[in-house]
Amino acid sequence: MTRQELKQKKIAVLMGGLSAEREVSLRTGKAVLAALQGAGYQAVGLDAGRDIALRLIEEQVEVAFIALHGRYGEDGTIQGLLEMMQIPYTGSGVLASSLAMDKETTKKILLYHELPTPAFQVYRKGDVLGDFLKKCRHFPLVVKPAREGSTIGISIVRDEQGLAAGLQDALQHDDHVLVEDFIQGMEITVGVLAGEALPIIQIAPKGGFYDYHAKYTAGQTEYILPAPLDSALYHRVQQVARDVYRVLGCSGAARIDFMVREKEFYCLEANTIPGMTETSLLPKAAQQAGLDFAELTQRILEDAGLGK
Ligand SMILES: Nc1ncnc2c1ncn2[C@@H]1O[C@H](COP(=O)(O)OP(=O)(O)O)[C@@H](O)[C@H]1O
Ligand SMILES: [Mg+2]
Repeated sequence: MTRQELKQKKIAVLMGGLSAEREVSLRTGKAVLAALQGAGYQAVGLDAGRDIALRLIEEQVEVAFIALHGRYGEDGTIQGLLEMMQIPYTGSGVLASSLAMDKETTKKILLYHELPTPAFQVYRKGDVLGDFLKKCRHFPLVVKPAREGSTIGISIVRDEQGLAAGLQDALQHDDHVLVEDFIQGMEITVGVLAGEALPIIQIAPKGGFYDYHAKYTAGQTEYILPAPLDSALYHRVQQVARDVYRVLGCSGAARIDFMVREKEFYCLEANTIPGMTETSLLPKAAQQAGLDFAELTQRILEDAGLGK
């Protein structure tokens, strides 16, 4: 849809919702709503609770801008509801959203396409712990719930005891837990907008670990843009970021996270609804590419559709 057409439509920014990332989503949603209203769109904010279908009908919403993170927002469920209601929405479709939400499935698809990702094992609730521990020999390891975000339930473990504790913790969040090789190196993220890679950002958390606090507290993390990689490596990473976006079938904006160790790099995950708060990375990368926040928001909105 063109911007002119979209300005005639009732737009809802879906925010908040039911996931552990609710607070972050409210911040993203408010920033997006302000940008759309400021640019002359008829936009309202809707909290995506259990009554969201009713609210969409009551508000006569014609286009949905999804500013939700985590479960029931980034995982294909709200996308499925909007498909059924025939309300065009921003970002990835049902399948890409649910694939990207699940790190285990994402990594299996990356392996199939020979795209680099850290080696991993999956612990499923009920698996015999002793057998599993025997498979994990090379510490340190990273333990994370298969479907969560914002570094929730993630730990870096250095021995069997730590691994057992890390599994317990991650199992609070999901029945499937990934145990991944720890990649010591530079953390970077690559925004992809409509299939094109944005400038790469290096993430340098002051405390060494990019956890919830480092992610969402101003001043806790240094962001270096563009990331200091030599030009051949920089372009290879951007190419792989585009490939990850493509093989998962993403649409609109996404952000692909990587760890770089010397000349090798490994994809950690794809985020199909990147944060758009004051401290978020996608807006910083877009800015570097010459797109301000209002422009970025409108590019994402223009891509709204059904059946992706
Ligand atoms: N294999 C790994 N090696 C090193 N650091 C990791 C690894 N996996 C995760 N991390 C660290 O944990 C953070 C969160 O992990 P990630 O897989 O991106 O999950 P999410 O962002 O969904 O919580 C990363 O940003 C990175 O700092
Ligand atoms: Mg991440």
